[in-house]
Amino acid sequence: MKIEFTNTIDQTGAVCVAVYAKNKTSSAADVMDTATDGMVRKAIASARFTGKAGQVLEVLAPSGVKADRVIIAGVGSQQDNMEQAWESFGAGVMQKLITSGVSAITFVVGALDGAHAARIVFGAMLAAYRFDQHRTTLSDDKKPSVTHIRIAGEQHASAKQQYAALHELAQGVYLARDLVSEPGNIVNPESFAARVQQLEVHGLEIEILNEKDMAKLGMHSLLSVGAGSNYGSKLAIMKWSGGKKGDAPVVLVGKGVTFDTGGISLKPSNGMWDMKGDMGGAAAVTGAMRALAGRKANANVIGIVGLVENMPDAAATRPGDIITSANGQTIEVQNTDAEGRLVLVDALWYGITSFKPCRIIDLATLTGAIIVSLGQENGGLFSNDDSLANDLSAAGAASGEPLWRLPLGSGYDKLIDTPNADMKNIGGAGAGSITAAQFLQRFVGDVPWAHLDIAGMAWKDKRADPRESVWATGFGVRLLERFISLSHED
Ligand code: BES
Ligand code: ZN
Ligand code: ZN
Repeated sequence: MKIEFTNTIDQTGAVCVAVYAKNKTSSAADVMDTATDGMVRKAIASARFTGKAGQVLEVLAPSGVKADRVIIAGVGSQQDNMEQAWESFGAGVMQKLITSGVSAITFVVGALDGAHAARIVFGAMLAAYRFDQHRTTLSDDKKPSVTHIRIAGEQHASAKQQYAALHELAQGVYLARDLVSEPGNIVNPESFAARVQQLEVHGLEIEILNEKDMAKLGMHSLLSVGAGSNYGSKLAIMKWSGGKKGDAPVVLVGKGVTFDTGGISLKPSNGMWDMKGDMGGAAAVTGAMRALAGRKANANVIGIVGLVENMPDAAATRPGDIITSANGQTIEVQNTDAEGRLVLVDALWYGITSFKPCRIIDLATLTGAIIVSLGQENGGLFSNDDSLANDLSAAGAASGEPLWRLPLGSGYDKLIDTPNADMKNIGGAGAGSITAAQFLQRFVGDVPWAHLDIAGMAWKDKRADPRESVWATGFGVRLLERFISLSHED
């Protein structure tokens, strides 16, 4: 995508103007209305157009201007978060035009401030994402036609400058969506680790541990999950040291089950293909690290992803097997499909013992139960620290990737006791997301920790927001990047 910031209006392709409410047009819309003999007002009056963020009206072959199309798009007027409204505005226009045949979109923004103008481009970029590379027979009319985004306005220089960091963020979201979308035969623990290794070019320091390294460290909880796979399990570590030397880092940990069959506790076959996305937590952490490095964040942040494939096999872990985690606690694996927590606890242990973090946050597509609780509207948030939970909630609201906090407590904790070992890896019939979080909490001690269960958010069958793509959302990248900027940068 070619992106330009200018103060001259190029009328080739589509020209887009904003409307705040039915009777509240932008000055650019007014100029357009005059040039076209009242077309903008007529179009608004003849459609059910209220100016809500994301609403789009399209006028083809307008007279009075050179543009092929005039796009009248809503941005809304009374939002608590105008940043997001402008993102939705840009995204709505891109969704409408991406395969329309138009190659250039010019957003005419008048005196709009640079920060909001930059958000238009960011929203449009999020909406322009496609996962088409495996479609060899896609007809031309279904291929994207838009190759240019232009912002024409007085604050173009400031917009350009502020967009630079958002472009890196968009690249992080794209990376996460790619990782989640790719099937298990393409993104497996080894190829995922290789993709992480490539992030070195952005200034991240990368380290990859293999099975031998992890066995030496005693990480048998993580290793037990990959025991049935032909791929070698990996732990990939990404370091970004943009903060003060010696400041304790924030550690981000991701569940990277590149395919979850359930193992010997095999999942039903119908819908199992979705489990190619069971590395959504690892994808979010990887995408966030890519974004933070790209924009040279003033913070020390470490990303750790536990990469395994959960397969049934003669070498696979059996239900009832007892394993010892790296911190010495023993686990009775009653269900091999509750594997995410087994991966996370050793990755959390590695993060805590190696880096002494000020805060540690894990992200995982951990439980189907979180979808029962929260649907696909909020990620689940669990934490042993109110200030961390509040910071994450604030970042979620600001970024448009919302979280909802759920409780922890000793009553829930008891549900994972077993007479055969220190704990079992499943609870009882109820509160499945909470017992999973209790399991993790047994490994973090007093380090401020939060767990985000994003099983309902990492992919969606239907697009819920114009900024999202059809399946993989990239959920977590924008949230984590915002969390670092709001809470860990000056
Ligand atoms: N990867 C799944 C959770 C999941 C389900 C993610 C649906 C996304 C959509 C996880 O490994 C799993 O299978 N969890 C089990 C836990 C149970 C056995 C205690 C579940 O949720 O059923
Ligand atoms: Zn599972
Ligand atoms: Zn899983």
